[in-house]
Amino acid sequence: MRTYEDFTDLMAADREPRENYFTLASCILPRPIALVSTVSANGVPNLAPFSFFNGVCANPPSLVFAPVTDRTGKNKDTVNNLRATRECVVNVVPHEIREAMNRSSFAFPPQVNEFEEAGFTPLASRLVRPPRVAQSPVQMECKLIQIVKVGEGPLSGNLCVCEVLCFHIASEACLPNGTADVTGIDLVGRLGGDGYATTRDRFDLPKPALPTG
Ligand SMILES: Cc1cc2nc3c(=O)[nH]c(=O)nc-3n(C[C@H](O)[C@H](O)[C@H](O)COP(=O)(O)O)c2cc1C
Repeated sequence: MRTYEDFTDLMAADREPRENYFTLASCILPRPIALVSTVSANGVPNLAPFSFFNGVCANPPSLVFAPVTDRTGKNKDTVNNLRATRECVVNVVPHEIREAMNRSSFAFPPQVNEFEEAGFTPLASRLVRPPRVAQSPVQMECKLIQIVKVGEGPLSGNLCVCEVLCFHIASEACLPNGTADVTGIDLVGRLGGDGYATTRDRFDLPKPALPTG
């Protein structure tokens, strides 16, 4: 295995938040994408993608995603809606809906229905008010556990910790053991800059057995 000996050290405290953001986003990848559906206190549906996103644990089944504040330190609509209603749906993003997902990332004003702007079809959820995205093969209905504020000012974080109440997996991609088929859902991940990845180039690495003898 190759070892690295020469490093460029970037002291985070000496850098602008924007610079640290671009460095983080180019080093942590590929990142899964949560296409998050919420509704405002007065019922306007909202959609936005977040790639600072992952699962947390299985008991309860839970996930996190992290909308940052904008350049002026203002919260995004997703955070305002979650605070007001404590519900969301996390939809996954297959290659086929990449353009519409990208459109939903535009900073529309809060009164705009982003399902309509992006061209997505809303599907009623079973347990929460935010609709699901019919073009996504896996939708997770969630209730908010807590929002952890990380830092303050521009580009500070709101780590949204959510419990999954119901998984909806498109039957054609749902395996008998209740997992999703990786080929069937064909998800994309975010790289740094404008880059994205698919999951089509794959390899297996079985779990190691304990060395014997
Ligand atoms: C693929 C992708 C991933 C994104 N990931 C994040 C993220 O992790 N955190 C964040 O604050 N913004 C992220 N954005 C930008 C938000 O989607 C964008 O700010 C959006 O307008 C927020 O919408 P809202 O105000 O309706 O919540 C991402 C955008 C794209 C296209």
